[in-house]
Amino acid sequence: MAKKKKSQKKIVSKKNPHKKSVLKKRKSPKKQKILDTMESLQKMKGEVGELIYSMQEKVRQLELLTEFSGILNSTLDTDRVREKALEATCQLIGCETASLLLVDRDTGELYWETALGDSGQTLKKTIRLPIDNRSIAGYVAMTGESIILNDVEKDQRHNKAAKKKTGFVTRNMICIPIKTKNRVLGVLQALNKLPTIPPRPSTKEWTFFYQEDLKLLETLGHQVAIAVENSGLYGELKQSFYDTVEALAEAIEKKDRYTGGHTKRVVYYSMCIAKYLPLSEEQRERIRLGAILHDVGKIGIEDKILKKAAPLDPYEWPIMKEHPEHGYEIMKRVKGLKDVLGGMRYHHERWDGKGYPSGLQGEEIPLVARIIAVADTYDAMVSTRPYRKGLPPQVAYDEILKNSGTQFCPSVVEAFLQAFENEKMGRGSGGANLSNNLSAEELEAAAQRAREEESAKQAAQNQSSLKKTGS
Ligand SMILES: [Fe+2]
Repeated sequence: MAKKKKSQKKIVSKKNPHKKSVLKKRKSPKKQKILDTMESLQKMKGEVGELIYSMQEKVRQLELLTEFSGILNSTLDTDRVREKALEATCQLIGCETASLLLVDRDTGELYWETALGDSGQTLKKTIRLPIDNRSIAGYVAMTGESIILNDVEKDQRHNKAAKKKTGFVTRNMICIPIKTKNRVLGVLQALNKLPTIPPRPSTKEWTFFYQEDLKLLETLGHQVAIAVENSGLYGELKQSFYDTVEALAEAIEKKDRYTGGHTKRVVYYSMCIAKYLPLSEEQRERIRLGAILHDVGKIGIEDKILKKAAPLDPYEWPIMKEHPEHGYEIMKRVKGLKDVLGGMRYHHERWDGKGYPSGLQGEEIPLVARIIAVADTYDAMVSTRPYRKGLPPQVAYDEILKNSGTQFCPSVVEAFLQAFENEKMGRGSGGANLSNNLSAEELEAAAQRAREEESAKQAAQNQSSLKKTGS
């Protein structure tokens, strides 16, 4: 019997080598206690690991939130707000891409303002969604409630248009409303959760979105909402400022019907030239405003001179030449135009110091004014007046080039030449259309008239200087 038991024990041991130790453990409470303790320690180690991971993750998220909040609050540029909001979403939540849909207040639709990645670029400005339950984003905008969907394909509200257009497959998503004071401004989406790196010490499925991700995105959403609202308000204010300024410039155009469209062309040519100069966005803004307003002072010039259908005589020129000062006097009290005034006031100064109203020379003349001077002269040359036909663009181009370093700033002329070659400043511009059919003789005659006009201006200026000095 004893022999049989022994052989049974052996068989068990062979089948399961751990059985022996288990049997022994049962027999040794002390060893069992050690094993239990080790097991508890192992479990604790896992929990501590999870806790440390969680703490590190919280710190990382907090740092990112602080960093992005700072960036979002430091800009009023809507495009930058959107771009940073999407970057922040991807980094915070750990997802493949993100998108921000804003409410179009005119149509009441959601529009895909921007998105990251190639697919995002395709989506840009191509998809509009109604605010109703026919799409996930529309539903969130309609109800103002956030949602998590870990199987988007199964959701009936899932809009297939984006997938069709871009081929981008949305596996799962979090969608939250972007709202301030109960007004929904848009919807922020985090798309396709990525596995965490390094892997989280947990058995959870880490390619799913969880409630904690949603809470985190909502925290970011508050910052995004403030930034979107601020940039929107700023944009509206800026637009209304531009509208007012343009309306003022338009008033001048109405007064002087022969130069119709001159302001718009000077703005266009100035911006073309600015493209080939190393300038900041802020400087480009100043150039645009300066060009819009450059002749606003003509409002103070009497009609018989402004509307004269013939070249001005030596007594009329000094009056006409007062318009930059008039413009300055009119606009100087507008705070927002402080940096633009120079461009308007000095657009008739010359690089060699022989211009007006102050005889500034070289870099004493603000860059905005030097650019407007080239754009203004070019348009004046190619435009037809009641008493002369406009010059062909190529002739006007040669005149500008010939006067580089005397009348015009050389680096601005350099930029003008590049703009002339690459932008629509030559053929296809207003001046070109007006003078395309001139014969060679007519071209020469027109060029001669332009030179005479310039000489008459110069003579009038010299006469006025002599009067001032009492000589
Ligand atoms: Fe002018």
